[in-house]
Amino acid sequence: MNSIQVGEQVAPHGGRLVQRVDESKETRDRASQLPKLRVSKWTVSDLELIGIGGFSPLTGFMKQKDYESVVEQMRLADGTVWSIPITLPVYEKEAERFQIGDEVALEGEDGVLYGILSLEDVFTYDEAKEAQNVYGTTDQNHPGVQKVYEKGNVYFGGPITLIQRPDHGEFDEFYLDPSETRKLFKDLGWKTVVGFQTRNPVHRAHEYIQKIALEAVDGLLLNPLVGETKSDDIPASIRMESYQEILKHYYPEQRTRLVIYPAAMRYAGPREAILHALVRKNYGCTHFIVGRDHAGIGDYYGTYDAQEIFNAFTHEELGISIFKFEHAFYCQKCENMATAKTCPHGKEDHVHLSGTKVREMLRKGEMPPKEFSRPEVVNVLIKGMKDR
Ligand code: ADX
Repeated sequence: MNSIQVGEQVAPHGGRLVQRVDESKETRDRASQLPKLRVSKWTVSDLELIGIGGFSPLTGFMKQKDYESVVEQMRLADGTVWSIPITLPVYEKEAERFQIGDEVALEGEDGVLYGILSLEDVFTYDEAKEAQNVYGTTDQNHPGVQKVYEKGNVYFGGPITLIQRPDHGEFDEFYLDPSETRKLFKDLGWKTVVGFQTRNPVHRAHEYIQKIALEAVDGLLLNPLVGETKSDDIPASIRMESYQEILKHYYPEQRTRLVIYPAAMRYAGPREAILHALVRKNYGCTHFIVGRDHAGIGDYYGTYDAQEIFNAFTHEELGISIFKFEHAFYCQKCENMATAKTCPHGKEDHVHLSGTKVREMLRKGEMPPKEFSRPEVVNVLIKGMKDR
């Protein structure tokens, strides 16, 4: 199955790559004169992704019509596939300071003005419905659901301008806009590119599915999420070091690139898998990997729910091909990485460690087996955890 191409490259979602960045002094000065609204880190990362076009075709925070259509039908009001509401939550008391038609300066928790919102819609919403439809549960132990309930109960909608990109500090050299990754792929001569989302260090199962995909396409975009994650996930700074290490030792340099995905993790499982795929299409990927329990957490989603959800859409409306992989493991009898599709042996021959178990080992300075994770990666992780 081929992806939908425009000229040489895959078309952005909705047909046009949105670019709403204006970092000129003039615009920033103007913003400093506007009424200010304090927004969370999460909102700043959404603002950034809208501004740089990662969330194309969105041009701003969702207005009620799009919001409701997304929550109910996984589509924008015009029918375009979109699975996760991208909203700007405001507490009721705060919301009273503004009215439709205002321009609002969006200020981060660090006091920096990151954007301007043209306020076109103000609406309330049903938290339980959003939680149930988007996350599949109203259980507030789910970190995404918890956010739904703890944030403001009014949404501000309207187009934005990104006036200041957030500082990605030590990751700056791995930061590219979707327009830049598109150019990069073109310069590298990659016609087909597979995107890989992760919020974890790359272990052998990740490497296995990435490399199977890489056998079939020109390039691999390792695109780790570095925005907000839950507190027991391995911090992005340690992960970034481990990615560089594994790429250096085990991947062909000319066919792999590491670029950060500056988004917050929602843990919305199937619906987030769709978002992840559409965003990677915007970055210029023609293919995207969805393995087992993609973007999942705990037991909230079935192992392959995040693959099955794609069946609700045609390839034409998604515009990106999905590489679906079964649960991968090392088999001691095969002496290989494998899945149930390729290995005839039983569970007792398979090396399997849970994420929790691995984190526990790393904290104690113990090496997980090399069949699970490359020693070079483990060394970086153990050192990183110790330094913390
Ligand atoms: S995620 O939340 O970012 O999806 P993670 O970093 O663990 O979590 O996974 C990255 C990608 O690898 C996802 O597509 C996930 O489904 C896939 N994956 C992770 N572990 C395995 C495995 N053992 N077998 C197959 N796919 C896997």
